[in-house]
Amino acid sequence: MVDTSEMHKDDGLSGAAIRANLGGLELPNLRIEVEGEIDSTNAALKRRAVSEDLHGLALFAETQTAGRGRLGRPWVSPPKCNIYMSLGWRTGLEPLELAGLSLAVGCVIGDTLECEWGLNIQLKWPNDLYLVGKKCGGVLIDLVHSANQGWIVVVGVGINVAMPGTGGNDIDQPWTDLASHADVSLSRNALAGQLLGALVPLLSGWRVNSFSQWQESWCRRDLMAGHQISVQQGQHTISGRAEGVDPLGALRVATQTGLVAVQSGEASMLRSTKL
Ligand code: BTN
Repeated sequence: MVDTSEMHKDDGLSGAAIRANLGGLELPNLRIEVEGEIDSTNAALKRRAVSEDLHGLALFAETQTAGRGRLGRPWVSPPKCNIYMSLGWRTGLEPLELAGLSLAVGCVIGDTLECEWGLNIQLKWPNDLYLVGKKCGGVLIDLVHSANQGWIVVVGVGINVAMPGTGGNDIDQPWTDLASHADVSLSRNALAGQLLGALVPLLSGWRVNSFSQWQESWCRRDLMAGHQISVQQGQHTISGRAEGVDPLGALRVATQTGLVAVQSGEASMLRSTKL
């Protein structure tokens, strides 16, 4: 891995610079905050839900001391090189009505990184962002209920932008960063603004069954489609060929006994060649 951090020095995230990159969107109700160091942007927003209106609050951090990934895994978050952000949103929907939202978040991030920076992002079900077969980011959606706000969605996004030389040493799987694959120097403020400018319309337009509109977009970026996979659900393993996702975002697996729609679990590819 080339140490790209020196080539992509930036002056730090700033709310004003992020707002200047929203792509011309006037979003007066969007509040953007930048913290130097925090445990986890998702955890911080969940704490604040008790006493504050989280709707439209975007929290960025330069570093996280206890960043979290899916299934309680740590999210390695070295300072001033990547994006760690969480956006609070009140959709007015119940948790079950949000099926597929986290996959759609992956799709809009993929589209944004491709349109703005020419990066060919692939998606690994349900929430992983990949570049050249290695993980470069992830999405973690938490839900928090408060008496006066109802259900609030906390959309957490972590993206490796320009990982310093030893910054990724603790990551326990093949990984990469955007800077290693971009032709131009990346600006984190620009990236952050562009991502928010794509996420806010997605969230504000989200309705029951919205994922069906994203199903095709997901399939275009699907890392596992056609590969032999296994999905671990606690003690239970489902094995077969990945066949994309259904209109609710469940993973379709063609097993020996028929097609199964998997709602949750940890998927791994068994072979690198397509069947
Ligand atoms: C995953 O791939 O497992 C999801 C990773 C999500 C990481 C982001 S970084 C910002 C936000 N705060 C966290 O603690 N986690 C998410």
